[in-house]
Order: sequence, then C-alpha cells, then structure tokens
Amino acid sequence: MRKTIRSPRRLRGSIEAPGDKSISHRAAILNAIAQGEAAVENFQGGADCLATLRCLMALGVKIDWDGQGTLRVHGGGRFGLKESADVLNAGNSGTTMRLLAGLLAGQPFFSVLTGDASLRSRPMERVVEPLRTMGARIQGRAGGTRPPLVIEGGSLRGIRYRLPVASAQVKSALSLAALYGEGETVLDEPAPSRDHTERMLRAMGAEVRVDQGDGLRISPSQRELTPLSLRVPGDISAAAFWMVAAAAHPDAEIRLTGVGVNPSRSGIIDALAGMGASIALEEERTWGCEPVADIVVRSSSLRGTVIEGSLIPRLIDEIPVLAVAACLAGGETVIRQAGELRLKESDRIRTTVLELQRLGAGIQELPDGMVIQGVGRLKGGVCGSHGDHRLAMTLAVAGLLAQGETVVRGAEASSISYPAFWHHLEELSSD
Ligand code: S3P
Repeated sequence: MRKTIRSPRRLRGSIEAPGDKSISHRAAILNAIAQGEAAVENFQGGADCLATLRCLMALGVKIDWDGQGTLRVHGGGRFGLKESADVLNAGNSGTTMRLLAGLLAGQPFFSVLTGDASLRSRPMERVVEPLRTMGARIQGRAGGTRPPLVIEGGSLRGIRYRLPVASAQVKSALSLAALYGEGETVLDEPAPSRDHTERMLRAMGAEVRVDQGDGLRISPSQRELTPLSLRVPGDISAAAFWMVAAAAHPDAEIRLTGVGVNPSRSGIIDALAGMGASIALEEERTWGCEPVADIVVRSSSLRGTVIEGSLIPRLIDEIPVLAVAACLAGGETVIRQAGELRLKESDRIRTTVLELQRLGAGIQELPDGMVIQGVGRLKGGVCGSHGDHRLAMTLAVAGLLAQGETVVRGAEASSISYPAFWHHLEELSSD
C-alpha cells in the first residue's frame, strides 16, 4: 500500500495513542500464567500483540478479545500451559518470540517458535545462550542463533548473568525462565532497559528485587501469581511520531493523552527537550504500576544534539523519528552507541539513512549510529518502509514536514504497532 502525504498548514488536535505494545505483550503473557481472570483495558490490537495472543491460545490459554475494548485472560496458573499441536508463529514480533522462548524453556513440553522472514533473520543467541546455561534444551538454525527455535522445556536452574547489551526482551525472557528455575536468578545489564516486566511481576506477587548495583533478582515462584487487571498506558513509542511532527512543524499544537512516561522509556522527551522542543507533561498520574501523563507539544525551533550512552535504551525505538527532528534542527546531531538498531525489524541505521536521503536529508551512516546535518526543510519524494512499521511512520512524519508531495511505499507496515496511524494523521492535519 502507498500513502501520499503533503505538509498541512497546521497540525492541531488531541490524540489518544494506542496502548503500549511492550506492556500489552506482558499483560497477556504474565496473566496467562497467573491463577484466575484478569481484565486488560486498552490492550494494543496491532499485529505484534495479536501474534502473542494467538500463541498463548495455541498453548491452551483461554482469552476473550473482541478486537477492541477489554482483553480478558483466564490464567491457568504456573503450570497451566499445554503443548501446542502446531508451530507457534510470532509473525514480525521479536518480543513475542524472545519472551515466549524464556517462558517455554521452563514448561514440561515441546514447542517450536517461528516468525516472518524479518524475524527469522534476527539474532536469538542473546536468549538461547543464557537459557541453555539455565539448563534449557533449545535448538535452532545456525546453531540456535536464528529461528525457528525448537524448545524441549524442562527443569531449569537460576543463574547470575550480565547481559552483554541492554535488552528488555532478553531480561524479560530470563525473568520468565527464572520463575521456573531452581534457586535465585540475578540479572545485570550495561544500562537500564525498560522495566515493565519487573513492575508487573512484583505487582502480581512474584519475588522480584532490584538492588542498586547488583541488578535484578528473581526467585522462583512458590505460590501462584495473582492476576493483574490494568489499563495499558498509551505507547510513548507511538506518541513519539506526533511529538516530533509537532515540535518540528511551524504551526502545531498536539495533545497526546494518557501516554506512559515510565523513566525507562521516556528518553524521547529528554532528547527533544534537549533540542529545544516545547514539551509539557500535564495531569501526571499512575495506571496500575506505570506512570502516565498527557503530553502537549508545540512548534519549536530545534537545535542539533548528541544522543548516546544510557539514553540509547531509553529511546531505542524512537531513533528513526528522532532523525527526522534532527533533519529540521539547526546544526549537527550525532547518534552513536546505537548499533542495536541494526538488529531490529530492519537494519534501522541503514534504512533510516537511505530513505531520509531520498527526501533531501543531510544524513550519513556511522557503524553504530548516524550523523545528521540539519537542512531546515525536507523535500517530498518517493520512499519505502522496508516492511518496517517504525520506518513507515517515520517517513510519514518526514512527509508532514517536507516541501511537496511524499509517497511512502509499504505504508501498511504501520499496522504492526499502530493500526489507527493514518487515521490519526488525517485528524491532526488541517489546512
Ligand atoms: C522491547 C524491547 C526493545 C525494543 C522492542 C520492544 C520489549 O528491544 O526495541 O521494540 O518489549 O521488551 P530489545 O530488548 O531488543 O532492546
């Protein structure tokens, strides 16, 4: 599907971002192994989270979902999952595959996890190796480094493990396995990644401790997890598209309501504020175990910045759209220590640079990031998503800020995480 975008004279309005993708996956998976029923409001209905639901249902979990409104998960307890009669398909979703690999490693049955062509090319050794150290029996292509993964679940033991890169998917996979391990598991990472799993597990009664300097400690559950009903906060990674659009457009004011502002995810707010964006957090409140706010962003004069270090895991998924802000900013922006971007749904360093160059950006690849010279205004052109949802939406935002017409090929990829994206784009644009 192709979408054609023109820069509107004004960007105005109030948007409720879709439910957070990371929290939605976790709400479904953790409630599936709790004992009893949970109601999850504002569950994100994009293709990635639906892949998680389908896998859980194939594992015997009873789930009611009408496509909108409230998801109901009927958890069958720690050992309530059943062997699936078929291969489990995670589609495009790395979170589904990696978290389920951790969970299934501790189940007394056989599972096979696969995904689409993009997911089958993504690295799995980051979960497979530590899970094998815990005693898991996992095979896969290329020595277990690529899907499909074949898991003969069974008994596990706790480990002490330092993650080589900050990754919430790995941390969460190992935390799930740790619930089934003998003895404590201690996890430590080079910089803090998103902590939704820890927050949720603690709220469900699991023994989870975060020790300053000594990482995350998880003890195997002696008792069943309590179901956790919650309202999923709006996804800051989805809201980020409108934050950048509003900050960089000459006549904009956008309110994003009920957005999750967990500090392990809110790097985009810090980065844009550091670039001079006008961003205000209003009505700060808590939904379940997560902080939420309304975010108001207005037209601003942006300047270049440096994005690196512990900020990277706090905004990893927002870097492509942040690159658009950098194109419109005065001066140079450098993004480095972000080599993880090459291992996402596409090689996001290569694809972001290539596609923004088509729109007149002064952007170059670095081995672990990119360097951008602000050009004031982008030029409309034809560009493509490489089947990557975040790239499709990033290019749409570039189109909102470019002179002339922009055509985004492969625009349908946005449905992975934000089915209402194009509808919201129309709602916010006015002439
Ligand atoms: C996610 C963690 C991040 C992020 C991904 C979702 C999660 O990946 O990029 O989109 O839900 O845990 P890594 O864990 O690989 O850093």
